[in-house]
Amino acid sequence: MRHDHITSAKQLSRGDIEAVLDRAGEIAGNPAAYADRHEGALLGLMFFEPSTRTKMSFSAAIKRLGGDIVDMGPVDSSSVQKGESLADTVRVVEGYADAVVLRHPKEGSAQMASEFVDVPLINGGDGAGQHPTQTLLDLYTIRENAGLDDLTIGIMGDLKYGRTVHSLAYALTNFDTRQHFISPESLKLPRNVRYDLHEQGSSIKEHTDLEEILPSLDVLYVTRIQKERFPDESEYRKVAGEYQIDAETLELAKDSLTVMHPLPRVDEIAHDIDDTEYATYFEQAHNGVPVRMALLDLLLGGDQ
Ligand code: NCD
Repeated sequence: MRHDHITSAKQLSRGDIEAVLDRAGEIAGNPAAYADRHEGALLGLMFFEPSTRTKMSFSAAIKRLGGDIVDMGPVDSSSVQKGESLADTVRVVEGYADAVVLRHPKEGSAQMASEFVDVPLINGGDGAGQHPTQTLLDLYTIRENAGLDDLTIGIMGDLKYGRTVHSLAYALTNFDTRQHFISPESLKLPRNVRYDLHEQGSSIKEHTDLEEILPSLDVLYVTRIQKERFPDESEYRKVAGEYQIDAETLELAKDSLTVMHPLPRVDEIAHDIDDTEYATYFEQAHNGVPVRMALLDLLLGGDQ
């Protein structure tokens, strides 16, 4: 893979994606072979927004490769509180680490920050923009459970503000997939994302009703309504609680349906689905470790 920075799923070719997923498969099959691979490597963590999975799985990934983390810690105890710019902070952190993961509430921040540093900068989520490493673990999970070609996928929930959705939709254009987007009218895909998907020749359809499309799906990817991104709380309240699924909803689905969610869930997936064969979201979250190990291995020159 020849990328210095990973800021958007748009930059990932099918070859790049397969290189990461294949390496992740090797790592999952033989983790001991990678245990000292990046001994002494340091991964800088700069999280300006809450995170459990992304931060912890990146930490686990670098440690399982023999490296360690240097963590900026909570924003309110960092120099950002003194008015330091993101560009300055990231330029300082690159001197402490061999690669940096940045999560930030502003869309475009990872791209901007990457222009100031030479070490690989990985976007761990930029506002409603992109979340490319979530996409890699989503693709790994889809490949394991349903295969990535001749795939019919439904992506449901907050398609407007959901960065995991925007990233996944772009990446899926590399494969033979039919993408169905299910959301309330007010949370449809942003126009620019829809435009880019059409430009890629992607087959996408938009729906407000899950039932009409559910029986044809191989994968249903459910997302949380991104409360923190709504400019107006009353707009959030209008759509909160819509598009929930439970075991009864899935009576219309194929037996082989894979239900995914980037997590955290609020109430989009009822707990009665957790113990069914459909539920794949905890496995998906666990796949974050081998997939991020694979990405770090490739970015840190594991093949040289
Ligand atoms: C997602 C995120 O932060 O975008 N979480 C994650 O990284 N697994 C999804 C979300 O917050 O809803």
